[in-house]
Amino acid sequence: MSRADLFRALGDATRLRMLALCCREELAVSELQEIVGMGQSTVSGHLAQLRTAGLVTARRDGAHTRYAAARPEGEEALVDLVATAPLPEGDALAMQRVLAERTSPTPEGLGSDYLPGRSWEALARTLLALLGPIRIADLGVGTGHLTSLLAAHARHVIAVDKDPAALARLPESIERRVGTLEDLPLKEREVDLVLLSQALHCVEDPIPTLRRCREALVGGGQIAVLDLAPHAHGWVRHRLGHKHLGFVDLGALLREAGFHDVTAEVVHVDRRTPAFTTVLAIGRK
Ligand SMILES: C[S@@+](CC[C@H](N)C(=O)[O-])C[C@H]1O[C@@H](n2cnc3c(N)ncnc32)[C@H](O)[C@@H]1O
Repeated sequence: MSRADLFRALGDATRLRMLALCCREELAVSELQEIVGMGQSTVSGHLAQLRTAGLVTARRDGAHTRYAAARPEGEEALVDLVATAPLPEGDALAMQRVLAERTSPTPEGLGSDYLPGRSWEALARTLLALLGPIRIADLGVGTGHLTSLLAAHARHVIAVDKDPAALARLPESIERRVGTLEDLPLKEREVDLVLLSQALHCVEDPIPTLRRCREALVGGGQIAVLDLAPHAHGWVRHRLGHKHLGFVDLGALLREAGFHDVTAEVVHVDRRTPAFTTVLAIGRK
């Protein structure tokens, strides 16, 4: 790169502003767009020219590419000149705002396509309202959030957990039964739906538990098991008491326990580490 090319790359007010910003902070295209108030193709075009001139470098960071100023050999003083000149006040303020947004929590939405007012909870409540007045046994309640959601629409909810403290957190309207998944405190043909959400992996031998669930269902009643696909995170054994590192074939387990009309599908793949995959298996008595 000749010095003339370098000066050509610098001979534009917007590129100079962008380089000055990249001297202070590593920035993504969307952040630069917000600061300089220009469209994506314009900003990307200017960045490409700065990169070709060796004045910025690009680094992949998750979904973003971040750009930082570079100092081409022999031309360090030139870049230092840009770096030390004060930023225009508007750019300095806009950069402050953009950097503050990085640390503020992203609004929760359905994945990346955030839409005001739309949330997983609202969606879950909407679907639950369509559930009808059925009797449900929720086995292994954890925080009780799901159990409480179910109780808002079901005819009756029986919550089972070995931990009395977990049951004590539940609303009064929910029937609580202290007991284990290995020796379920459920009567025969007592409920229309048995739910095991992230609980079956706590049982050494799942088949006897699933058979007992079947006995607790009325004819035609359903079981829904939400659990993990096979994974290699051994720490869940000692940290969370899991007995299984996911299940290879949840559907096959339901069939073996006597359920029919069995379906099993992946319902969620978490992109965040440790990146568990969730499987939903449903069967009918
Ligand atoms: C991960 S939490 C369940 C979360 C909840 N179902 C949900 O989806 O949000 C597991 C629950 O199962 C209970 N649990 C674990 N092993 C159990 C067992 N063998 N018998 C009864 N409850 C058990 C724990 O006390 C805990 O409340």
